[in-house]
Amino acid sequence: MFKLGNVKKSCYNKFMLSNKNILIGITGGIAAYKICELIRMYKKANANVRVVLTPNALNFVTKLTLQTLSNNEVYVENFTIDEYKPEHIALTESDIFVIAPASANTISKLANGICDNLLLSTACAFNKPVLVVPAMNTNMWNNNFVQENLSKLTKCGYHILEPDNGFLACGTNGVGRMREVEDIFEKTLEILSGKLKGKKILITAGGTKEKIDPVRYISNSSSGKMGLALADVAFSMGADVTLISTFKVEKPYKNVLTETALEMEKVVKENIEEQDCVIMTAAVADYRVKEVSEQKIKKEKCDNLTLELIKNPDILKEISSLKTKAIIVGFCAESENLLENAKIKIQNKGCDYLVANDISRKDIGFNSEENEVYILDKNLNIEHIEKNTKLNIAKQILERVFE
Ligand code: C5P
Repeated sequence: MFKLGNVKKSCYNKFMLSNKNILIGITGGIAAYKICELIRMYKKANANVRVVLTPNALNFVTKLTLQTLSNNEVYVENFTIDEYKPEHIALTESDIFVIAPASANTISKLANGICDNLLLSTACAFNKPVLVVPAMNTNMWNNNFVQENLSKLTKCGYHILEPDNGFLACGTNGVGRMREVEDIFEKTLEILSGKLKGKKILITAGGTKEKIDPVRYISNSSSGKMGLALADVAFSMGADVTLISTFKVEKPYKNVLTETALEMEKVVKENIEEQDCVIMTAAVADYRVKEVSEQKIKKEKCDNLTLELIKNPDILKEISSLKTKAIIVGFCAESENLLENAKIKIQNKGCDYLVANDISRKDIGFNSEENEVYILDKNLNIEHIEKNTKLNIAKQILERVFE
């Protein structure tokens, strides 16, 4: 695996990108001129580079420059044929699509499936990693539509290299400056090296639903967002992901829908043998109704309804006691004495890591886009992960667990 973080300083290995086909997409922004240097970096690392531009991008860089640097044909037009295949399909035969600089216009069109130029049609047909590197004026970057569209792209598994705060071509200082080409190069390496390639990871998510009768159930406030973020990030890091959730998702990885704790237990146990890691993010109900009514309970029949609840299996505890190769990660949500309770819990459950979060806080946790957690290991070492988006927290958890 490549050592990241020092590409700027060191001379990078000239075979780092051997056999890699990189497609660069350039849109109409002043930072387009910097992509000439990026092409040279990719080429020096032995990649095959092809370039597709939006018609607006041609105002900033010439085809001749890009052709000379990439030693390849450069593509702009939508309706020509390359080796008897439509160009937007021929271009998808690449390992990664790096769209840099990505304008507000192209980001918004990408997020809405619009295909009115060759770059966009190619992106729409592209089923491998896409790295989007925005560059724009600060007000455009802060625009609600642009931000909404960016989060749509993130949710769909696109990698976003967020812009820097700095001097902009429009003469102002602020967020919107395209990240340095060294950062883009490094991010490309990170994505292509797939830190979790070859790892099988099973993740549970959502609150289980314990049936009372055919229409009613007991559940909890878990949104499943943390588990979903872990599954998305693990997938983008190259892992073979299975998400077992109480809600259905349309994702490029395996998703098994389960409702109750018993169903979840069965699927987890059926799949655990082959896993390298199991992350129990789901809020599994501790109790279920002893006798589930086959028919809808009629309120006319009784004024007081008493439900007898019986204990559910503790899936995390049970799988932690099995002798499998999987690293087992549990979650704990506490409303008081977070770390004291977490220390007791990891010992009681016997899992390898426990991620603790404070549910008394309104700004993080349940249903929120953000979280702040502590990771405990078996030796009761504690690492604090500061408040951040659930996607970033997920990345840090996975990096810690697979350190
Ligand atoms: O004991 P507590 O519910 O706080 O533990 C939370 C952790 O245990 C989570 O990782 C959750 O997925 C898991 N759990 C479980 N089976 C249960 C209850 C919780 O696997 N019945």
